[in-house]
Amino acid sequence: MQTIIEPFRIKSVEPIRQTTSEEREQLLNAAGYNLFLIDAKNILIDLLTDSGTSAMSTEQWAAMMRGDESYAGSESFYRMERVVRDLTGLRHVIPTHQGRAAERILFTVLCRKGQVIPNNTHFDTTRANIEFAGARAVDLLTPEAADTQARLDFKGNMDVQALERLIAAEGAANIPLVMITVTDNSGGGQPVSMANIAAVKEVASRHGIPLYLDACRFAENAWFIAQREPGYAEWTPKQIAQKMFSYADGCTFSAKKDAFANIGGLLCTNDDRLAVQETNLLILTEGFPTYGGLAGRDLEAIAVGLEEVLHPDYLRYRIASTGYLGRHIADHGVPIVEPPGGHAIYIDAARMLPHVPKHQFPAQALAVELYRHAGIRSVEIGSVMFGANAKHELLRLAIPRRVYTQSHMDYVVEAILEVNDYRAHICGLAIESEPPFLRHFSARFRRI
Ligand code: F0G
Repeated sequence: MQTIIEPFRIKSVEPIRQTTSEEREQLLNAAGYNLFLIDAKNILIDLLTDSGTSAMSTEQWAAMMRGDESYAGSESFYRMERVVRDLTGLRHVIPTHQGRAAERILFTVLCRKGQVIPNNTHFDTTRANIEFAGARAVDLLTPEAADTQARLDFKGNMDVQALERLIAAEGAANIPLVMITVTDNSGGGQPVSMANIAAVKEVASRHGIPLYLDACRFAENAWFIAQREPGYAEWTPKQIAQKMFSYADGCTFSAKKDAFANIGGLLCTNDDRLAVQETNLLILTEGFPTYGGLAGRDLEAIAVGLEEVLHPDYLRYRIASTGYLGRHIADHGVPIVEPPGGHAIYIDAARMLPHVPKHQFPAQALAVELYRHAGIRSVEIGSVMFGANAKHELLRLAIPRRVYTQSHMDYVVEAILEVNDYRAHICGLAIESEPPFLRHFSARFRRI
């Protein structure tokens, strides 16, 4: 059998609404050609993010009814803690309302002004929280990843030699932690190999620096290791994930991704002293350590989700579905970041629309056209988001977990190929107004 089917059936459905291209043109005009400013009810297929958008399972909903909403010592916390300890081997499990809250607490406690924190690629909230703490966020991605077209297995790897050089230049005392993001979201959803995690750990611990995983998409990373890294074909995703975490001294985690939860995050560590400082800060802004900004039912959803996400049938379908979208558009001439990542496909809009210069925002122009043509929402990751620091002009199509079916994906493929056929007629955009920071959320554009 060739067809990879969804390993679930549907019990509860949520209608999505068709609109006409004339309606969408009006909506775009009213929203200043910014898809963040279009209401969700006017979107047919929403590929803005895979974060917090997952469909929960019957078991998760059932567990939510068992949520213990006690302020202190909730049973739901202990259930979640057992699952996380079993998976990560990390002793201290601190719940937060989402990933960035874990980041803020970690960097507030661990970073001093002028210090440096390396990562394969920092996600925007990670970078922003490091900079907010007065430290510097440095990306040390393997140079192999610079070529978006190279079909390599582990383009999320950290450049280990560059890490050695950074430690030599800055001094180990100036680097409070090393981070690895699995999978590398900002770099195209590309995985990191076990060998690379081990090599980074070896360097970090030789210098007495703790290693942290930004573990949002740990299960997708584990699946890629099983498929691509010699020696892991017979391992279960859980065994691989456990080995990945065995190298980590701590982790930050957004449960909105690979825990199928709609909200939630975690900060974990093996350092007893650090855990005390972190929970003190947690109480100040998130809540008591056995709920940390979440309801007991959210903790239940996370506990169940963390076990479900490691099921081989789910991961096989998940990665195949993302790959299906990527291969079908790429094999018909749409340039994507190769190979397809775990949670998203990234179209290289600068290559697809060579007639639209960087300062006319080719990826934003493509996002606008894909919405106008087919009601699909995606997100620009290029000059609108990063200004002059943008390395590429990418359009991200992030796939919510367990939400869309194969025919939804076929519709997306069809729509992108139709837009590709008339790409020469797509015009660029100019900014009409923008806020002082994080402009992608609220800037307004006009067509050129
Ligand atoms: N780290 C990574 C790698 C992420 O992708 C995200 C969120 C975070 C941390 C922060 O987690 O949203 O729970 O506070 N990524 C979402 C996205 C927003 O669309 O890629 P959060």
